[in-house]
Amino acid sequence: MGEARVNECRCCKTAIEESMTFGQMPIANAFLPKSDSYNEYFFEMATAFCSNCFAYQLLEQPDAEMMFHENYAFYSRQSKFMQIHFKSYADWVLENYLDNPDNSFVVEIGSNDGIMLENFAKQRIKHLGVDPSSNVVDEAIKHGVQSIVSFFGLDSSKDIKGEYGLADAIISANVMCHLPDLNDIAKGAHNLLNEKGVLIFEDPYLGSMLEKVSYDQIYDEHVYIFSALSTSKIFGKHGFELINLAPQETHGGSMRYVFAKKGQRAIQPIVQEILGDELAKGFDSAETYKQFKENCENSKSRLVTILNNAKKAGKTIAGYGATSKSTTILNYCGIGPELIDFISDTTPIKQNKVTPGMHIPVESYEFFKENIPDMIILFAWNHANEIIEKEKDAIDKSVEWVTHLPNFQLKI
Ligand code: TYD
Repeated sequence: MGEARVNECRCCKTAIEESMTFGQMPIANAFLPKSDSYNEYFFEMATAFCSNCFAYQLLEQPDAEMMFHENYAFYSRQSKFMQIHFKSYADWVLENYLDNPDNSFVVEIGSNDGIMLENFAKQRIKHLGVDPSSNVVDEAIKHGVQSIVSFFGLDSSKDIKGEYGLADAIISANVMCHLPDLNDIAKGAHNLLNEKGVLIFEDPYLGSMLEKVSYDQIYDEHVYIFSALSTSKIFGKHGFELINLAPQETHGGSMRYVFAKKGQRAIQPIVQEILGDELAKGFDSAETYKQFKENCENSKSRLVTILNNAKKAGKTIAGYGATSKSTTILNYCGIGPELIDFISDTTPIKQNKVTPGMHIPVESYEFFKENIPDMIILFAWNHANEIIEKEKDAIDKSVEWVTHLPNFQLKI
């Protein structure tokens, strides 16, 4: 079903050992129709750190076909904030890396419903989205974004090059960390890009995860949590060099990485600054990940205590946002419907279902508005500003908002 648990780094084949385990985990986005009995797939979600290429990674990952398929429950367009973010990402690429937009070709790896590429499509810039889930590709095409159903790698890069020509930019957002075989991606990108071409991707940042103890960034799809140190090592082996970095607020703290073919473009000073900062913080040391494990365990006891106490006091508790990330929190902490009455989510295909593993009902936003609880656990904490803005006048001040993050201040 899934790949066998690895005992060597996926990128450089160095022997690796378990840093921590989150226990048995279902597929994060596998919401289930309500039923009396459930037959689910579980895998052991454990992480390891590679002392050679510094990649923090899952030891075992379910097969891609189990996670990304025609029923993939994630449509990027759900969030207005993300629409704005992708527009500014596209503008940034255009401004900094497309010298001649009218003659440029932009490829996106994991283009989902076309939320980013439509910004290029609207300006009639040649583009192609590549995504393995047919339902999101259909949605992208409806929005005028040229897209194909495919996994990206060396083989598909040859087909794309044959049909469309060399690319000026290959971009992606919240996708690269899903891809176990980064060597194949790097080879494919190197093959498809022209000499001055750039590979740009952004993903949840290891530095933010360690600092916030946002261990919910780890779930089946996120096989890696990247740093500048690890990405520069991994892509550096394939003729690329890290030329720019841009920290992002999205997904609770992300990093945008820009790679160019070696010697083709100037390296920005921020690259050395961030690499130095990561070394100073010990991202290259196994000790750092031992401390992270302890921080996760403390976060778990804190959250379970908060919810148990609220329940004992007779309070009603609901979740806000049936995020993929919440699957990690709920299953790691063993929190089910005995503690959380329901989780509100605006995504239609998640509604009237139950959450993977812990089987908490997922209800519509309308249901939530009619059943405001005493306590809200904000699972979509990465959208806190957007959500608080939307809810601050509608929800009574006596309702308590909590998250699993030990130092997260909710400003309501
Ligand atoms: P997201 O934060 O993208 O995270 P993940 O990758 O962990 O799934 O998902 C946000 C989820 O929260 C999505 O299912 C939609 C839901 N949501 C709401 O229900 N209401 C909101 O106002 C927002 C912003 C999101």
